[in-house]
Amino acid sequence: MPKGFVIAIDGPAAAGKGTISPLLAKKLNGFYLYTGAMYRCLALLCIEKGISTKDKESIIKILPGFEINFSDGEVFLNGKEVAERIKKEDVAMGSSDVATIKEVREAMVIKQKSMAEEIIENGKPVIAEGRDTATRVFPNADLKIFLTAKAEVRAKRRVIQIEEGGDKTEFENVLKDVKLRDSQDTNRETDPLVKTPGDYGYIVLDNSSMSEEETVDKIISLAKQKALI
Ligand code: DC
Repeated sequence: MPKGFVIAIDGPAAAGKGTISPLLAKKLNGFYLYTGAMYRCLALLCIEKGISTKDKESIIKILPGFEINFSDGEVFLNGKEVAERIKKEDVAMGSSDVATIKEVREAMVIKQKSMAEEIIENGKPVIAEGRDTATRVFPNADLKIFLTAKAEVRAKRRVIQIEEGGDKTEFENVLKDVKLRDSQDTNRETDPLVKTPGDYGYIVLDNSSMSEEETVDKIISLAKQKALI
């Protein structure tokens, strides 16, 4: 049986991780572990229950009744399919809030590790994507990529995604949200997105002027250099 391995892809909001990682997983016949979906689902649960995404006490209380499952691009929150709903901006901002809570992060990391273990035991690669997958979740990941792009490029890509989803938006508002999330994700106390990725074993990939295909090919060539494939 082939040996399973982990490619961890972290980076700031809207850097392309959510497009590149599933493409990579498909090419490598691996499992795409979208850790951000977990924080997004918890934020959605808060919205549905009328709980503020900043209300730490109430959020910790609803954690035991929170169940998430992935299947082929679908995301299930307590049995309900929510892949499209969790892409919306209210959920995006709320997810950055709930992700600052230590107890939330601990619960999510346990779930992420156990999902990945099963895949690796079956000899498959795991393509994990998020903010702390290479530092906290899989510190021994076989390849660590820090995928980034200029804030303006990221905001522009996000505007296109939002408009493709049928909503209207303003570039300036999206840029402001992207910067706010970056700031919250890098400055929180527990397992923040690192500011100096080179010091944590990441290979930094700025894809501001790369196509999706070029970015995927680059990561595949890095995996080959590491003899993972
Ligand atoms: O990658 P994303 O935009 O879907 O993530 C949504 C939010 O979840 C992001 O603003 C920060 C948080 N997150 C995190 O703190 N740790 C992760 N491993 C993944 C996401």
